[in-house]
Amino acid sequence: SGRDNLDTNMVTLTRYITERGRQVKEATGELTQLLNAICTAIKAIATKVRRAGIINLYGIAGTTNTTGDEQKKLDVLSNELFINMVKHSFTTCLMVSEENERSIEVDLDKQGKYIVTFDPLDGSSNIDCLVSIGTIFGIYKKQHDGAPSENDALQNGRNMVAAGYALYGSATVIVLATSSSVDMFMLDPNVGEFILTERNMRIKKKGKIFSINEGYAKFWDPAMKEYIERKKFPQDGSSPYNARYIGSMVADVHRTLVYGGIFAYPAHSKSPNGKIRLLYEAAPMAFILNQAGGKATTGTSDILDVVPSKIHQRVPVVLGSPDDVDEYLNIVRKHQ
Ligand code: AHM
Ligand code: MG
Repeated sequence: SGRDNLDTNMVTLTRYITERGRQVKEATGELTQLLNAICTAIKAIATKVRRAGIINLYGIAGTTNTTGDEQKKLDVLSNELFINMVKHSFTTCLMVSEENERSIEVDLDKQGKYIVTFDPLDGSSNIDCLVSIGTIFGIYKKQHDGAPSENDALQNGRNMVAAGYALYGSATVIVLATSSSVDMFMLDPNVGEFILTERNMRIKKKGKIFSINEGYAKFWDPAMKEYIERKKFPQDGSSPYNARYIGSMVADVHRTLVYGGIFAYPAHSKSPNGKIRLLYEAAPMAFILNQAGGKATTGTSDILDVVPSKIHQRVPVVLGSPDDVDEYLNIVRKHQ
C-alpha cells in the first residue's frame, strides 16, 4: 500500500528495560533509570553526529555560530551530554570517561550505587570523513557503603552489571548486554525511539573475516604474524579469510558480532599494551561478546579477568568467534 507500517505495539528500549526491571524482585528501578538516561544521551549524540557535517560547513565561514558560541567539537559535546544525563539520573556515584583524566564524582545529593565507565565518541579518526563512530559504556556497582573514590572503578569485567555500545552507522543501533542476554535496538528517527530488532544475539562459532590494522604488521609478535599469515595463506586447503578494518572499534566489533570472525588490536613492539583502553573499551566489549557466546582475550588472559590498576590502562585485544580466538590462542601457546 506504500504506507509506512508502524507496529502499534512496538518494544522500545525503554519498555524493554522497564519490563526487565519488573521481573527482578529486589530491583529498585535504578538500573532502569540509568539505562534510560544513557539512552537519552545516545539519542542526542546521534542527532549531533548526523548534523556534524552541516555544522562544520557553517564553520567554514568562521569558527563561531550565530549566537556567538564557539563550536564545540563533537567528542567534547558527546562527553558533556553523557556526563550530564548520567549525573542527573540519581543512580550513579562515579564516572570514568575517556575524555577526563580523573574519575568524575557525582554530587552527594545525586549519588546512586552505580559506577559508569564510557567512551562517549570512539573512533575519532573517522569523525571528519563520515565513517562510522560509536559510544561504549560499562556499568558496575560500588562494592561498599562508604564514599566513592577512583579506586572503586578498578574492578574486573566479571563484576559488570551491564554493558553496551551505540553505533552511528548507516543507521543508529544500540547493542545492550545484561546478565541474561544481548539484544539489539535500532533508532527509528520518525518515532525518536530505539526499537527492539533482535533478541538474544549469538555470535557464529567461527567466521570468515579478520580485522586488524595491518600497517603495524612489522611490529607484531611472532604469534600474531603467524596467525594472520594463516588467515591469508591457509595450509589446510580452506579459503583465505576476508580482511575488513574500519578503525572504529564499535563498527569493527559490531560487524564481528553480526557476521562472525576475529578483531584484534594487539600489543606491538612500539606499544606493549596496544591502544585499546580496558575500562571503557575492552571490558564492555568483552562482556558483550562473552554474553553472545564469543571470546575476548589479551593473549595471556581473558579480558574479563584483568584487574585494572589505573583507570586509563590499555590492554591488547583479540576478540570474536570462539573457534577463531581459540585458534589464535593455540598459536600463542606454541610460541611460548
Ligand atoms: P580513539 O579512542 O582515539 O578513537 O581510538 C580508539 C580507536 C578504536 O575505535 C579503533 O579500534 C582504534 O582506535 C584504531 O586505531 P588505529 O588507527 O591505530 O588502527
Ligand atoms: Mg576511544
